[in-house]
Amino acid sequence: MRPQPDFIHEFVPGTSNRTLLLLHGTGGNERDLIPLGRELDPNASLLSPRGKILENGMPRFFRRLAEGVFDLEDLETRTNELADFVASAVLHYKLAADDIVGVGYSNGANVAASMLLLRPEIMHAAILFRAMVPLVPDTLPDLSSVAVWIGAGNQDPIIAPSETQRLVSLLRSAKANVTIRFFDADHGLTSDEVGTAGRWLKGLKLSDAPR
Ligand code: MLT
Repeated sequence: MRPQPDFIHEFVPGTSNRTLLLLHGTGGNERDLIPLGRELDPNASLLSPRGKILENGMPRFFRRLAEGVFDLEDLETRTNELADFVASAVLHYKLAADDIVGVGYSNGANVAASMLLLRPEIMHAAILFRAMVPLVPDTLPDLSSVAVWIGAGNQDPIIAPSETQRLVSLLRSAKANVTIRFFDADHGLTSDEVGTAGRWLKGLKLSDAPR
């Protein structure tokens, strides 16, 4: 039996205890971020679901009303569904539940940030490329055991630096250990950025964020 609730997904077994949860951007799919995941960590298992929402045929992880304006009810429902999928995939593929690192790009980074805020038990760390504030929860979770690396583009036409700073402040007010880096880039990733994130991940020990 496959993990329930099910998402179309790719799973690539690794040789270490770590699993990267790969979350693609709008219009992407479960195969897109596999090479990025391998570059970030050659040894981790890779779990890469496809978002279930279709916007003009483009997969996403939750509905939006306009660019950067989210359907908050759908976001909450979809975040919980994704978190339940990860929890069931942990059992199904016999993964270490305490070493799940979210890696999201754009829409995938936004759903990863939403999962940190609404389901803080799922990931012990996250790499968020081009993320915004997805929602502000009524009650802040305790993220004191969670490390987050955020990569932003200083010429990103979709996400202003002030929006990235809002996300940093929100996560820090929930006590997360946040590293923020701005790159000379637009909404697209650069190899410099991926290399920097990979070095951060390599230095991340489970003991840095004890649960
Ligand atoms: C989103 O909808 O999550 C953001 O606008 C980023 C995007 O997917 O373009």
